[in-house]
Amino acid sequence: MGSQGFDTVGVVGGGQMGSGIAQVIATSGAKVFLCDISPNQIEKAKNNIKRSAYKLLTKEKIEQREYEQALEIKYTGKLEALENCDLVIEAISENEEAKAAIFKKLDEILNEKACIATNTSSISITRLAANTKRPDKCVGMHFMNPVPIMKLVEIIPGLTTSEETTKKVTQLATGLGKSVTMSKDYPGFVVNRILMPMINEAFTALMEGVASPEDIDNGMCLGTNQPMGPLKLADFIGLDTCLAIMKVLHEGLGDSKYRPSPLLVQYVDAGWLGKKVNRGVYAY
Ligand code: CAA
Repeated sequence: MGSQGFDTVGVVGGGQMGSGIAQVIATSGAKVFLCDISPNQIEKAKNNIKRSAYKLLTKEKIEQREYEQALEIKYTGKLEALENCDLVIEAISENEEAKAAIFKKLDEILNEKACIATNTSSISITRLAANTKRPDKCVGMHFMNPVPIMKLVEIIPGLTTSEETTKKVTQLATGLGKSVTMSKDYPGFVVNRILMPMINEAFTALMEGVASPEDIDNGMCLGTNQPMGPLKLADFIGLDTCLAIMKVLHEGLGDSKYRPSPLLVQYVDAGWLGKKVNRGVYAY
């Protein structure tokens, strides 16, 4: 497979997206650093990567060498440890201020030729890139959850992203065995612009008592051939992430049709964030 010119790659954020991204890139043969400020999150990421890579090995989806490469990821709590990376992919939670701070810090730390990508699911790439002195080397690389299984990476060049940067990250994604779709830099890009209003509508239907969670999910699974219903998918993505994306769509596109469902807001207020905390629409 190979890393397409990105021999050393950093990933910032050890949650379900960051750990999945680190795993697939390490499996492809690049040297990978995974950075998270929380030692607890690093422990979780290590365990998740080991479990996932082992599952793929036993199913002969990856080879022994690739499995071992996934175990060679270097874990760190400090951004400075990423200084020699050719590419850093930021994959922290959907908070623009926090992402902007990481872009600024990475811009100071990294070699001037290095690229900075963000796995944001909705926030403006152009705006994040403007926090750096290398906006031509900043780009959106939106992976899908679970990263080792899902085939798609959405590539989003910002207004200032160079063609060369877009080409390099596209080659990296295809080298990982992923299919690429291109999107312009508008709120939610393509996938979440369409997926999130559907999930949001499922919450409104639930709030209005149109149907039970099970009937909403079974209706969409059996009636429209989706692998999991919208409410279960929301639990799986994280209700806080779904709400953050709806807010970006609402503010960025200015249309009331993107108003977050009050029930989604209430669940997030209650701390019912989905599968990661064992409670969302469903209890786990
Ligand atoms: N690593 C390795 N293997 C994994 C895995 C992981 N992280 N997660 C799942 N698998 C494997 C399972 O072991 C299983 O393998 P077998 O079929 O060989 O047993 C297979 O994937 C299917 O898993 P399950 O049997 O547990 O459950 P499933 O049949 O429901 O499939 C799923 C799970 C692939 C996640 C499927 O439910 C699905 O496609 N769901 C929709 C996912 C989706 O829409 N993702 C995009 C969300 S949007 C997003 O990510 C963007 C955003 O910005 C919010």
